[in-house]
Amino acid sequence: MSTHIEAKKGDIAENVLLPGDPMRAKWIAETFLDDPKLYNDVRGMLGYTGSYQGKLVSVQGTGMGIPSALIYCHELINDYGVKNLIRVGSAGSYQTDIKVRDIVIAMAASSNSGINNSRFANADYCPTANFELFMKAAKYAEQQHIPIKAGNVLSSDQFYEDSSDTFKKWAEFGVLCVEMEAAGLYTIAAKHNVKALAILTISDSLVSQESLSADEREHSFKTMVEIALHTL
Ligand code: ADE
Repeated sequence: MSTHIEAKKGDIAENVLLPGDPMRAKWIAETFLDDPKLYNDVRGMLGYTGSYQGKLVSVQGTGMGIPSALIYCHELINDYGVKNLIRVGSAGSYQTDIKVRDIVIAMAASSNSGINNSRFANADYCPTANFELFMKAAKYAEQQHIPIKAGNVLSSDQFYEDSSDTFKKWAEFGVLCVEMEAAGLYTIAAKHNVKALAILTISDSLVSQESLSADEREHSFKTMVEIALHTL
């Protein structure tokens, strides 16, 4: 057992999907995995291991934001030997041509989080996706005729900004959408020489103010999870 995960060594697969919402971890495990077994419910942060097309896969909720996600990623990598981590999450669009239900793969993750600023003494570290996972995901999507967008995303510490205009600067510089964890994931994966990718489904748009209902979110998440599972 690690500090926040009560699994035994060997209970967690080398390949892990990382939704922010623990209930989404349950839904992914029950919808996609054969013989899913719950290995964690400390703090309600559900984690399951099962198999997908014969390969062992785990799904672990991370909570919201970089600090929470880093706790789970750190323990998965250092205490359980996880090698491939794919975040499957939602994001808010920053661009007019990126609509709700669209899928975005984060090639890189900008951030307003202080974690890398203090770690690199205010120099700019650029957290990037693992190239191999990125190519696999992009190729699978292409083969299946699933349209995707790929580029820079923002991992923000704030869901609720003081001003509704804050996003415009990031948008002007080509950032596709906002979420809250990818920059932390990419940085810790680089530090420990493991592979990471973030695949996102647009659940709301800061441009059009459109947003998906809880039901619609679940349906649109299926395609993203399929891409992630085929990438692992
Ligand atoms: N995840 C989904 N929508 C988001 C938003 N608007 N901001 C941050 N994270 C999000």
